[in-house]
Amino acid sequence: MSASSDSDHHESVQDSSISSLPGSARSSRPEGQYTVGIIGGGQLARMMHQAAISLGVHTRLLATSPDESAAQVMRDVTIGSHLDHDAVLDFAKGCDVVTFDHEHVPTEYLREMEEAGVAVRPGSEALVHAQDKAVMRARAAADGAPCPLWQVCDTPADLIAFGDAHGWPVIAKTSRGGYDGKGVWKVEGPEEVDEPFEAMGGLADGQQPIEILAEEFVDFTRELSAIVVRSPSGQGVAYPVSETVQRDGICVETTTPAPGMSDERQAEIQQMAMGIAGRLGVVGVLAVELMERADGSVVINELAMRPHNTGHWSIHGARTSQFANHIRAVLDLPLGDPSVTAPVVVMENVLGGSEMDLTGALQHCFARDRSLHVELYGKQVRPGRKVGHVTCLGTDVEDVQRRARHAAGYLMGDRNV
Ligand SMILES: Nc1ncnc2c1ncn2[C@@H]1O[C@H](COP(=O)(O)OP(=O)(O)OP(=O)(O)O)[C@@H](O)[C@H]1O
Ligand SMILES: [Mg+2]
Repeated sequence: MSASSDSDHHESVQDSSISSLPGSARSSRPEGQYTVGIIGGGQLARMMHQAAISLGVHTRLLATSPDESAAQVMRDVTIGSHLDHDAVLDFAKGCDVVTFDHEHVPTEYLREMEEAGVAVRPGSEALVHAQDKAVMRARAAADGAPCPLWQVCDTPADLIAFGDAHGWPVIAKTSRGGYDGKGVWKVEGPEEVDEPFEAMGGLADGQQPIEILAEEFVDFTRELSAIVVRSPSGQGVAYPVSETVQRDGICVETTTPAPGMSDERQAEIQQMAMGIAGRLGVVGVLAVELMERADGSVVINELAMRPHNTGHWSIHGARTSQFANHIRAVLDLPLGDPSVTAPVVVMENVLGGSEMDLTGALQHCFARDRSLHVELYGKQVRPGRKVGHVTCLGTDVEDVQRRARHAAGYLMGDRNV
């Protein structure tokens, strides 16, 4: 499914259009060049910037340190915290549109930016569903979207009651502040229920209340990701569904399209994701993380409203990357073709390992595979940290996975791959 219309949901988007914005930012750069403000300086901002360059779009960054991945390569950088009210509001004043590298800007600040007339994309009404897993579960349940059994737990006793009622193990999650598996616990039995409650303080940002959510443990056979992009005028595009592999809560590999999935099933999942984007009024990328059961049914794990790790394959494996489409969407430009450029596209994350000299390791990887694509994020190598990704294209799933795994393994320092 590509370029499907979503006009039913058109009215639900509350952003003002760019052309109607007062142009405080416009005087500071060439006429006709828009300024897209990105809050958060990680690799997603870096790759959004890369896509914006081709469109002549000026990007401005709010990063917490000049060493952050995107701050290293962008010219217009403000150093400040996304949790600092004045820093965020001042930053937004200079932008035509504000978008995000992560979902940790307090929801209240998003609302204030909107009240000040800034085009916040995605807007607060939508983004809160990616910020707060309890809000997302309640909304998904109300909309009839498939979810595991869940419940907000105020006390460890509530978590025990949930496990006793629905069976152990259970998954406990913080409603806010989690990422890369931090803030998610597999709780095997009543003796382990205290840990999430003790750890939640560490993820609190002091601005928003955090709750503990209990979820039924889904014995999934694989995880999937459905990425769609939606513009303020209601145009939507859906990328092919990817199979994703998480290790210790971190995405390590995606294969696109998801092997063995029928076209009909893929279209159903894409439509489900597009329906969520329309109902919530999402602008930009929406990633719907899914868990697939043995019978082929799926349940929603969580939502992300920004370019997503499971969509990195699209830089080289799709006709229009998720980053290019995100920038187009936030500027309300027509969206590009999301279809794959090869029958099989595999993305492998490069996590920090024993190899410190990533540029040196490229010597081997590129010499071995001339069609390999590598993105490195300029980040200091630290164990387990996402420092880059590789993408391989081809026709045979096993062959493409083997090539991608070899390159990523080598870049991580594994010489036995
Ligand atoms: N109800 C569940 N049953 C079984 N496994 C689950 C469940 N919920 C989450 N998981 C597992 O935990 C992983 C991390 O969960 P989740 O995506 O909610 O956390 P996160 O830290 O916010 O991750 P992200 O880095 O994607 O933001 C999932 O990818 C999945 O493997
Ligand atoms: Mg996740």
